[in-house]
Amino acid sequence: MYSSEIIGCGMYVPEKVVTNHDLSKIMDTTHDWIVQRSGIEERRWVNDETSTSDLALVACEEAIKNAGIDKSEIDCLLFATISPDHDFPGNACFLQPKLGLTDIPAIDIRQQCSGFLYGMSVADAFIKSGQYKTILLVGAEIHSKGLDKSTKGRDVAVLFGDGAGAVVIRRTDVTDKTKNSHIFSTHLFAEGSNAKALWTAAPGSGLGTSQRISMQDIENGLQYPSMNGKKVFANAVRRMCECLMLALETNHLKLEDIDLFLFHQANLRINQMLAQELKIPEEKVFNTIMKYGNTTAATIPIGMSEAVKAGKLKKGSLVASAAFGSGFTWASSIYRW
Ligand code: UT7
Repeated sequence: MYSSEIIGCGMYVPEKVVTNHDLSKIMDTTHDWIVQRSGIEERRWVNDETSTSDLALVACEEAIKNAGIDKSEIDCLLFATISPDHDFPGNACFLQPKLGLTDIPAIDIRQQCSGFLYGMSVADAFIKSGQYKTILLVGAEIHSKGLDKSTKGRDVAVLFGDGAGAVVIRRTDVTDKTKNSHIFSTHLFAEGSNAKALWTAAPGSGLGTSQRISMQDIENGLQYPSMNGKKVFANAVRRMCECLMLALETNHLKLEDIDLFLFHQANLRINQMLAQELKIPEEKVFNTIMKYGNTTAATIPIGMSEAVKAGKLKKGSLVASAAFGSGFTWASSIYRW
């Protein structure tokens, strides 16, 4: 059976830095509250003209260059996002012509903060089945245009940022698991009974009204995300622990075998608790939340690019990733870089 490997990565964040102090000028919050509760110091926001596929394009171009391939080799495009350019069609369709590609399948993945790992799993399965050979997977989000930036929305608004990260995943032959770069496994989970613990209600056909959104819905703020923060937090720690341990067990690996832990970045305290619980040394956990906040589907590929630049992620490194988010959805993966 074929295997798949990540052969290149890229990222892009908008230039505009929004600090906690900037937020405290538009809502009732403080730098200290945000840092103490989440670890976030700043995040990036786009300007009005930029779309999610614009962000994705830059990250993809860097990933293609980093992979050393010609873009004509890409035979499938996967786009993970919850903040698309438009309601439909999917964002991969908007991105495809910007990349100068045509005809190849353009597939969207939702799955929120787990979107990138769900995408990795889909890419891995496509490659293993022999259906595609070279897949471009991008996670990109523009949250800044969808947040309630008044005091009412402060619990959510301070956490999220804009950004994009991409990888090229390609078919490979693995002759030596201890050396060859490849994806060992992906594990995906969901618990839809908690769908409304972190969600955006409108626009939607589930509102029990004749339209997907009304002026009344907008006045009620249904177009903004709402969250039961404590419930999400507690489940994130528990589920990420569980799926990480399952990934290790499946691959007959021990925590000590892992060179780098690249977790989703929703709250620095979530990752610290996870590391504490599993006794993972702090220096093996790579965090970016301080600079970028939670960029949802873009988070893990942004972490990959940043970890490479920081010299923490090197050819041959054994990496474990885990994510948790709205849905609830959660996922893990182990891969050799
Ligand atoms: O990937 C999945 C996405 N999301 C997550 O994983 C997030 C998970 N949850 C969390 O990260 C945390 O629950 C938060 C950071 C959102 C909140 O931290 P918390 O320690 O759970 O605080 P809390 O919600 O219990 O709020 C404590 C207080 C409240 O005031 P009262 O009721 O105690 O007077 C909030 O109104 O803090 C208030 N508060 C704020 N104060 C200043 C909530 N948001 C803010 C804010 N600035 N931005």
